[in-house]
Amino acid sequence: MRRQIAIIGAGPAGMFLAHLLHAEGIEATVIERRDRPYVEGRVRAGVLEQGTVGLLRRLGLAGRLEREGLVHGGTNVSIDGRVFRIDMAALTGGATVTVYGQQEVMRDLFDAAELRGLDIRWNASDVALTGLDGDRPVVTWREGDAARRLTCDFVVGCDGYHGVSRAAIPASVLRTFERVYPFGWLGVLADVPPADHELVYANHERGFALASMRSPTRSRYYIQCGLNEDIGDWSDDRFWDELCLRLGSETAAKVTRGKSFEKSIAPLRSFVVEPMRWGRLFLAGDAAHIVPPTGAKGMNLAVSDVTMLGEALSEHYREGSDAGIDGYSARALARVWKAERFSWWFTSVTHRFPTMDGFDRRIQIAELDYLRGSPAAQRSLAENYVGLPLEAA
Ligand code: FAD
Ligand code: DHB
Repeated sequence: MRRQIAIIGAGPAGMFLAHLLHAEGIEATVIERRDRPYVEGRVRAGVLEQGTVGLLRRLGLAGRLEREGLVHGGTNVSIDGRVFRIDMAALTGGATVTVYGQQEVMRDLFDAAELRGLDIRWNASDVALTGLDGDRPVVTWREGDAARRLTCDFVVGCDGYHGVSRAAIPASVLRTFERVYPFGWLGVLADVPPADHELVYANHERGFALASMRSPTRSRYYIQCGLNEDIGDWSDDRFWDELCLRLGSETAAKVTRGKSFEKSIAPLRSFVVEPMRWGRLFLAGDAAHIVPPTGAKGMNLAVSDVTMLGEALSEHYREGSDAGIDGYSARALARVWKAERFSWWFTSVTHRFPTMDGFDRRIQIAELDYLRGSPAAQRSLAENYVGLPLEAA
C-alpha cells in the first residue's frame, strides 16, 4: 500500500488528525492495535476546552455535542469543605468548557469516519516502523494471518504512552522529563444526578476529591488514593463515605449515592519527551506527553498537537512549504509545557502529599485562599482551564 500519511493509533489524537487530513484531501491510513468497541469503551477524559469544541464544529462533528454537551461557564474549588466559585466566562471574556465524555467524542469520530470512508485498520498487531530517517518510511503490521506493508511520506505516532512510535526514536535523540506522583485517582461512574451543575475540585486534609459528571443523570467522581490500593477494598459505601467527607457538608448534602458501574484506579504522572519529531516521524498526544488529570488537559493537548500538525502537513502538500513541519515540535512543546505547568500546579495545590508537614499544608491553604479572594489569581486559573490559545510558531 502507498499513502501520504500513516497514523499509528485511533485514539483522540489519531482520529482528529485523520479527519483533519481528510478535510484537506490528504490520504491517510490509521493503524490501531485494538478494535473499535475497546477504544470507544475506555472511560477517560470528560471536559473539552473551547478549542476542542471549535475543532469538532469545524470538522462538522459537533451535532450530538451541541445537543448533549453541558456548557460550563464556571468551576468550584473547596478548601476543607468551604466552597467558592470561579466565574471562568466572566474572567476570560466569555470562554467556557464543555462536559462531553471522551467515549462520546470517540463515537462521533468513528461514526463520521465510516460515513466519510476514512481508512482505519483495526486489530493491527506487531506494528513496526522503519526508514523514518530516510525518504520513504515503511509501516508493517499483521491483520490476523495477513502481513501488511504501507509506504508513506510521513508517519504520525498517535499511539499513546505505551505505543511503539516513541520507542522508534533513538534514545540518543530523545530527552525525557518526568515526575511520578505518590498517589493515584480512584474514579467511579454512577447513574445518579451530579452533586452540582458545575465541577467541584476539593482539597481536604484527607486528600483530593473531584465531583464531575457526564450528563444530568450520570455522575463521575474521583478521590485521591494510595498507589497500591486494592480496588476490591473500595465498596461503593466506603467510596461514598470518603467522597462526602472530603467534599465537605455543603457539597455532600447534594451527593446522590447509587450503585457504581465503573470503578478504577489511575496513577498520576507528568511526562514530556523532546523533540516531538524525528526524521519523518511526528509524535502527538500521549505518545509524547502525559499530564496528571487535575484540570482535564490530557485529551485537549492531544487535540491541540494534531491541530498544529494538520496545519503543518497541509502547508507541506498545498504550498510546498516545510516551515510548518520543521516548526511543529517547538510550537507544540511550547503549549505542552504550559499545560504541564498548569496540571502540575493544580495537582500540587489540591492533593495531600505523603511528605507534607504543617508548613506545607498551611501554604497550600493560603494559596487556595488567595485564589478565593484574588480576581487576578482566578483569571490565571480560568484562562488555563478553558485552554490557552494555539500561538503561531
Ligand atoms: P490514547 O487515547 O492512549 O490512544 C492511543 C491509541 O493507540 C489507542 O487506541 C491504542 O490502542 C493505540 N495503540 C497503542 N499502541 C499501539 C500500537 N503498538 N500499534 C497500534 N496502535 C496502538 N484526560 C483528561 O483530560 N481527563 C481525564 O479524566 C482523563 N482520565 C484518564 C484516565 C485514564 C485511565 C487514562 C489512561 C487517561 C486519562 N486521561 C484523561 C488522558 C486522556 O484520556 C488522554 O490524554 C488521551 O486519550 C490521549 O489521546 P491519544 O490519542 O494521544 O492517546
Ligand atoms: C474529569 C476529569 C478531570 O481530570 C478533571 O479535571 C475534570 C473532570 C472527568 O473525568 O469528568
